[in-house]
Amino acid sequence: MSEPPKILALLHEHRVIDPPEEFQRNAIADSEDIYEEAEADLEGFWASQAERLHWSQRWTRVLEWNPPWVKWFIGGRLNVSVNCLDRHLDSIPDRVAYYWEGEPGDERRITYRELHDEVCRFANALRRIGVRRGDRVAIYMGMIPELPIAMLACARIGALHSVVFGGFAAEALKDRINDASAEVLITADGGWRRGDIVPLKQSADEALEGSPTIRHAVVVRRTGQDVSMQSGRDLWYHELIEGEDTECPAEDMDSEDPLYVLYTSGTTGKPKGILHTTGGYLTGVSTTHRLIFDIHPETDVFWCAADIGWVTGHSYIVYGPLANGTTSIMYEGAPNFPDKDRLWAIVEKYGVTILYTAPTAIRAFMKWGERYPKAHDMSSLRLLGSVGEPINPEAWMWYWTHIGGERCPIVDTWWQTETGMILITPLPGITRLKPGSATRPFPGIQADVLDESGNPVPPGAGGYLVLRRPWPAQFRTIYGAPERYVEQYFSRFGPEIYLTGDGVKRDDDGDFWLLGRIDDVMNVSGHRLSTYEIESALVDHTAVAESAVVSRPDPATGEAIVAFVTLKADVEGDEALIGELREHVAKMIGKIARPHGIILTEDLPKTRSGKIMRRLLRDVARGQALGDVSTLANAEIVKEISTMASEMAEEE
Ligand code: WTA
Repeated sequence: MSEPPKILALLHEHRVIDPPEEFQRNAIADSEDIYEEAEADLEGFWASQAERLHWSQRWTRVLEWNPPWVKWFIGGRLNVSVNCLDRHLDSIPDRVAYYWEGEPGDERRITYRELHDEVCRFANALRRIGVRRGDRVAIYMGMIPELPIAMLACARIGALHSVVFGGFAAEALKDRINDASAEVLITADGGWRRGDIVPLKQSADEALEGSPTIRHAVVVRRTGQDVSMQSGRDLWYHELIEGEDTECPAEDMDSEDPLYVLYTSGTTGKPKGILHTTGGYLTGVSTTHRLIFDIHPETDVFWCAADIGWVTGHSYIVYGPLANGTTSIMYEGAPNFPDKDRLWAIVEKYGVTILYTAPTAIRAFMKWGERYPKAHDMSSLRLLGSVGEPINPEAWMWYWTHIGGERCPIVDTWWQTETGMILITPLPGITRLKPGSATRPFPGIQADVLDESGNPVPPGAGGYLVLRRPWPAQFRTIYGAPERYVEQYFSRFGPEIYLTGDGVKRDDDGDFWLLGRIDDVMNVSGHRLSTYEIESALVDHTAVAESAVVSRPDPATGEAIVAFVTLKADVEGDEALIGELREHVAKMIGKIARPHGIILTEDLPKTRSGKIMRRLLRDVARGQALGDVSTLANAEIVKEISTMASEMAEEE
């Protein structure tokens, strides 16, 4: 974060798409008034949203802001699991909460009544083994129904859950357990992924060797292979809940009591425990879920295809949808198992109406080709969403055409683990869409673009994305490290301004174009360029499936651009094509953006959540020694890329 972001926003994108009339007619948010209402009376706006929830005691004040500290719905009391479950039992007990599909093809259909009963049984069992209000419970599982059940059971008894993504290794799990001093770990024997068993219990056992605070590990039987069970410590889930009552008194929580911790990586190595609380969080996620995804709970089948191990799953598979009485899909496995049409088969089978996924997935679908979605009836879809990184206009258009049949609005939603809820996004019945732009701040959100001195920058220029006032689902602190909370997020521009860490530009209409993390910004010949814009230009070329752009020091230009490029399946790469790609970027953005070197590679190194590891590629491009790559989803590709990069350097 040391360099000032004089980001040049050079990628021009002119397409606009108005909300389809049919969609507009039935949309929940159907008029601009909502923006004005929230602007005129921020507290009134959020209070009226909070009224959609069940409070055992109403708040006395909506907002208390002592920058950078914030509280919402002060004095209010509620329980999140009661709001997600009990509240629906009179009206919609038999509505399906989750259609769950296992990777091998097994299915479960869980109604709100059944989900309530399961959560209560497990909550009673957790109490019986000594879990109390305020205790921390680590959860390390695949995408099976017991994962949301465990989260809701914790919420019911006032324990904080800390979900650790099932793709993390033992070491990462251990660090997170220890940082939160968790007392119980909930895991499974294994999970299915691309036809193989992910040995969760085995990794958990390794982690627990170095996690002295854990008293019990509760193990769900999913894959059925032999696992070692340590007597006294390890308990089978199915044995534990046997005979437990399907009613469980819920803890009456304060609005500001913690709900969960979720670890995320920051600019420094050690993961940060992002702490979310109760009343504001549930208000924020249920409101954004309802308005952005236009949820008509009687008819919609909503599918957020993320993993619950990330914040997207917490907010938009578990808490938002359940608070809104929604029917959701949960799928356990890989999108290309048994074949590359698995997602589209699920859309067809359950009549999915809303699909929310990530650009990295969309680019994979693009690479596999349109014949996979074409083979299925996807006419039930009416709305699409994107999250996690800037979506390249080309990927946006492909999603629009081949998945949405040119009739489904796409909501490109910008937010973070820290923000808890979506903050910059279209409202699908109102907003004019621009492929590649997350468009505008949600009602009541005040986003701004600042230069390095903290002055707002004019339209068309790039700068730091900041948020100027509170919103209910924002994190309250970093678990156990309040000084880090202040230092990392509220010191750059003062305690009233939240620094997101992202670069952004605003166009003449006031729409926001995310440019990637500030630390992915390069300086070439004195020009600041976003890696994302160059990547977008590369992906715009018909031969390219995916790209990652980094820089390395260059005596002439300060930094030189190096692009790692994956070609589409049927394309042969050669020197001529590399030349063509360089010219393509020059043509789309300008000569200053022409990559110095292009390395064609079969894959890019990615974290297990699908984010490209640019930092690692930067080290490769600079010929530096590589550190630990064990948290990568595809570690083997790094060696291959390094070899190619050093060959390229020798040729120069
Ligand atoms: C990026 C995921 C552009 C951004 C919800 C942010 C996006 C980081 C978008 C947070 C989007 C997320 N357009 N960039 N629609 N959504 N990002 O904490 O850089 O895993 O800071 O939360 O992802 O990632 P996180």
